[in-house]
Amino acid sequence: MSVFTHETTQAKAAEAIRAIPATLTEFRCPLCNRVFGSHSDLSCHYAAEHPDTAAPIVVTLTINGKDCEVLIEPHWTLQRTLQFRLNLTGAKHMCNKGVCGSCTVIIDGRTALSCTVLAAECEGKSITTIEGIAADPKWKPLIDAYCRWDAMQCGYCTPGFLVTAKALMDKNPNPTEDEIKEALSGNICICGTYPRHATAILEAAEKMSKGA
Ligand code: FES
Ligand code: FES
Repeated sequence: MSVFTHETTQAKAAEAIRAIPATLTEFRCPLCNRVFGSHSDLSCHYAAEHPDTAAPIVVTLTINGKDCEVLIEPHWTLQRTLQFRLNLTGAKHMCNKGVCGSCTVIIDGRTALSCTVLAAECEGKSITTIEGIAADPKWKPLIDAYCRWDAMQCGYCTPGFLVTAKALMDKNPNPTEDEIKEALSGNICICGTYPRHATAILEAAEKMSKGA
């Protein structure tokens, strides 16, 4: 049996969300590491010292219901921003080409591959990550079922599967096995845990439909 439980993941996820800073207090140059007190000071520094390089931008994101400012290079993906600016490490970097599903998040109610989305495109949109799902008691039956059925081995792909499962169950609270397989068809597991996902999701759906 897995050593993971919903209680441990819920507490860690809630703490990770709580720790996201709402506003920027320092503006660090990623090229020479100097720190500035405002974005305009950093922009002036770029114009003077790094004129051939695009200056970092400030983007305001809404992640798991929390608004936060991030300072990023303009080409940064949402996955990179979550991992390296917000310390939300659940959306995994694996293929980085939009083919494996390990970086899946939900943007405005639809699954999205965060390695293929620029963070700058996400302003004004509502982003849900695996941390938001894990911290929400509503999804305890889903995470419990994944633990009970050991629907993971190394676990690297598991957050992507869970986010996809949550998006499916939001639209279709009682999916059939075929519907689950279809929904998860974009998620790849190198460890080969495929049969257990449907079993876990079917069990979670049944429990959730009974209000468990
Ligand atoms: S890392 Fe994004 S789809 Fe594979
Ligand atoms: S559990 Fe290892 S990649 Fe899926």
